[in-house]
Amino acid sequence: MKKNNLNSPLIVTDPVVATLDFFKKITKDLISKNIGVTVFSDIHKNPVKSDVYKGTDVYDAEKNDCIIGIGGGAAIDVARAIVLRVNHREDLFKYDDLIGGDVYVTNDVPHFITIPTTAGTGSEVGRSAIIADDITHQKKILFSPKLLAKIIFADPMLTMELPAAVTAATGMDALTHNMEAYIAKMSHPLCEGIALEAISLIHQSIEQAVNQPDLKSRSNMMIASLMGAVAFQKGLGVVHSLAHPLSSLLDTHHGLANAVNLPYGMEFNIEGSEDKFRRIARTLELKEENGLGVVNYLFELNNNINIPHKLSSIGVKEEHLNTLADLAIADFAHPNNPKPVTRTDFYNLYSKAL
Ligand SMILES: NC(=O)c1ccc[n+]([C@@H]2O[C@H](COP(=O)([O-])OP(=O)(O)OC[C@H]3O[C@@H](n4cnc5c(N)ncnc54)[C@H](O)[C@@H]3O)[C@@H](O)[C@H]2O)c1
Ligand SMILES: [Fe+2]
Repeated sequence: MKKNNLNSPLIVTDPVVATLDFFKKITKDLISKNIGVTVFSDIHKNPVKSDVYKGTDVYDAEKNDCIIGIGGGAAIDVARAIVLRVNHREDLFKYDDLIGGDVYVTNDVPHFITIPTTAGTGSEVGRSAIIADDITHQKKILFSPKLLAKIIFADPMLTMELPAAVTAATGMDALTHNMEAYIAKMSHPLCEGIALEAISLIHQSIEQAVNQPDLKSRSNMMIASLMGAVAFQKGLGVVHSLAHPLSSLLDTHHGLANAVNLPYGMEFNIEGSEDKFRRIARTLELKEENGLGVVNYLFELNNNINIPHKLSSIGVKEEHLNTLADLAIADFAHPNNPKPVTRTDFYNLYSKAL
């Protein structure tokens, strides 16, 4: 910040991280260096547009000169959306990537720094922010290369106190990114190489990171999460489109929603991607070197890290399925799935996972 003549950051975080010791230490250190600090933490678990508007109002009122996002994907996404909004004042969803809104991101944006405290979304290295509509709760994706952080401090020490359930859910989000990116329909050998290596790191470390955390396992999870976000520049797929509606409708945590749906979504994708599944199975050192081997591995992994096999265990009911299928077919992730997904496919996948 000093190098860039900046001395008044808006720190965007969530209400839980704002109370943690490492967060207090970061703000204390900044103040001791004569840097004025404004903290904005009034955000939802699944962030909505009004969170972004409120944060931008604070930035304006406090005359901040840069933005630091500290936290999980939720806090970093809100921080990134405020970075966009500071000099782009049309309705936030005019910049929705799905309708080509990225072309309107033309003005300068404030200096942006990210500090992840979960190992899952990889949002710290991303160019997009996922923000939901306050009323419909549909998740929209704001995207522009201008929204990349200028510098990222990915320090696994900040994840050492992350509770087991959050470590499991966020870690499975990272695994979902890497698996979906690897099989996504475009050809992108760079992303595919990164995804396979990250799958290997997660395989080596996720159970340890959840059940007996040490710095090595937490470090591997943090780097694999960041690699996932690089890999999924290639695209995501059916699992994220199954997961997003659960967050919209039932406020389910994003990683947990992915974790439960991942084995079912991967099973759906085997047909036509047999070679890629063989490569994933080899990366996971499975005896059964095929798609079903991967699906069985995922169910067992969920078991070992206390993630349920069924959507009914996380509050989904039969009467939700039609609305979920409507939201899933409208979602931005599945057009990159290796095979097309219909509304009926979504309905059937939800029913199978129920
Ligand atoms: N931008 C992207 O590319 C991208 C990709 C995937 C997901 N997302 C978005 O990210 C969000 C999910 O992010 P997430 O999975 O990191 O969860 P999160 O940000 O919701 O954090 C999960 C919980 O962990 C707590 N927490 C965070 N760090 C902690 C720490 N070090 N110690 C103790 N508790 C801590 C938080 O307060 C919160 O209660 C969703 O909104 C999702 O849509 C964005
Ligand atoms: Fe995700």
